[in-house]
Amino acid sequence: MVQGFVSQSLMASMSRLFTQPSRVAVIAFASFIGFLLLLFGYRNSPTNVRSPSLAPSDSGRGTISAARQKSLGAIQNTTLGFEKILAINLPERTDYRDGLALAAAVSNIQVEFINGVHGDTVLDKVLPPKHVENPEAALRGSWRAHVNALRSVVEHNWTTALIFEADVDWDVRVRDVLTNVALGSVALLSPSSPQGVEDQQLHLSRLSFPVTEAPLSPYGDGWDVLWLGHCGMQIQRGSNIVVIEDEDTVPEAQFVRTWDADERSPLEEYPAHSRIVFQPEGCVCSIGYAVTQGGARKLLNSLGLHRLNAPVDIMLREWCEGQDGDGPHVCVGTLPTVFASHRPAGSTAGDSDMGTPSEGFRDRGFTQNIRWSVRMNMDKIVRGDTDYEDQFSDTVEELVD
Ligand SMILES: *[C@@H]1O[C@H](CO)[C@@H](O)[C@H](O)[C@H]1NC(C)=O
Ligand SMILES: *[C@@H]1O[C@H](CO)[C@@H](O)[C@H](O)[C@H]1NC(C)=O
Repeated sequence: MVQGFVSQSLMASMSRLFTQPSRVAVIAFASFIGFLLLLFGYRNSPTNVRSPSLAPSDSGRGTISAARQKSLGAIQNTTLGFEKILAINLPERTDYRDGLALAAAVSNIQVEFINGVHGDTVLDKVLPPKHVENPEAALRGSWRAHVNALRSVVEHNWTTALIFEADVDWDVRVRDVLTNVALGSVALLSPSSPQGVEDQQLHLSRLSFPVTEAPLSPYGDGWDVLWLGHCGMQIQRGSNIVVIEDEDTVPEAQFVRTWDADERSPLEEYPAHSRIVFQPEGCVCSIGYAVTQGGARKLLNSLGLHRLNAPVDIMLREWCEGQDGDGPHVCVGTLPTVFASHRPAGSTAGDSDMGTPSEGFRDRGFTQNIRWSVRMNMDKIVRGDTDYEDQFSDTVEELVD
């Protein structure tokens, strides 16, 4: 049974989402596993039964209803299926802006920069009523920058927006990654029944969703935050977990790192190269997160008008979990992270505008958790080479049949 895996608000959003009762059925074709084939098992229209034709369409999505395919197709667009992508950047961090502008350009992603904020320009009188005593400049600045981004989403009435910090990095195959996340989040947000669910794990390859209409967002409807870029998150107790197997972009679990070097990744419990999508808790770092219009309004109300009692990522985490007087909100997380912070070669003093800069020098840059990192492969990419460097090559040879 999957009792209690959904919060009240998730329930509410589910009932808004689906007009027909849905059921989760196990489809017995266990050997059909893999990115291509899982999609044949993923049926989201009652009239759309598993098709035996293996027509080499785009990526084998022939059995997903046309409406859903169209909606997933939006992930290929220049804003990755969101209405807008914003990136927070302090104007004098020209290094960050150069790097992100180039990474976005070569990935055909359209990013709108919004200025970061210097803490000393944030007056005491604009602080929300509940704030830490004398917030230090770094905290004021990053709070204001993120709230400005959220406010911009509200002012423009964008249906969804993805908010980046400017040192963000991603895999060359980011659109494939996000398509899997979208399949996962729609499955997570759908009103599943306990049948076919083992240990709260929903194997995408075995699920069937009679969905009458495609969601408005390719990532599903009814979410507040999609926390896509983080440096660590846990699975909320009782959350359902959608397991997407055989994703090539996922490093072996031994390579998956978080802010806490001693932490074992929850991914160690799953077959190698699985991506999981779930309701998160204990999230750290706000490298990239998407909000819906509803999510942005609620966040602007909470973080803009009520409180500044922790760094932004911690406030966002508390807001998701429903601490601090806020009810729980519908936040969807994924492991491994889709977006990560890039640390370029050179002086380490530039790593953060938040804490005290560290004195040091790196010969080689890095990005944790991202295999074909766009930033790490930039020399090749601008040359037009496609033999990308894999930062986390497999140590275990997979059996090929
Ligand atoms: C990309 O797709 C999303 C979702 O359909 C849409 O809101 C957005 O406007 C699209 N972006 C572009 C640049 O077409
Ligand atoms: C905001 O967008 C929604 C649909 O996404 C629309 O119904 C509403 O009228 C818009 N509001 C404003 C002020 O434009």
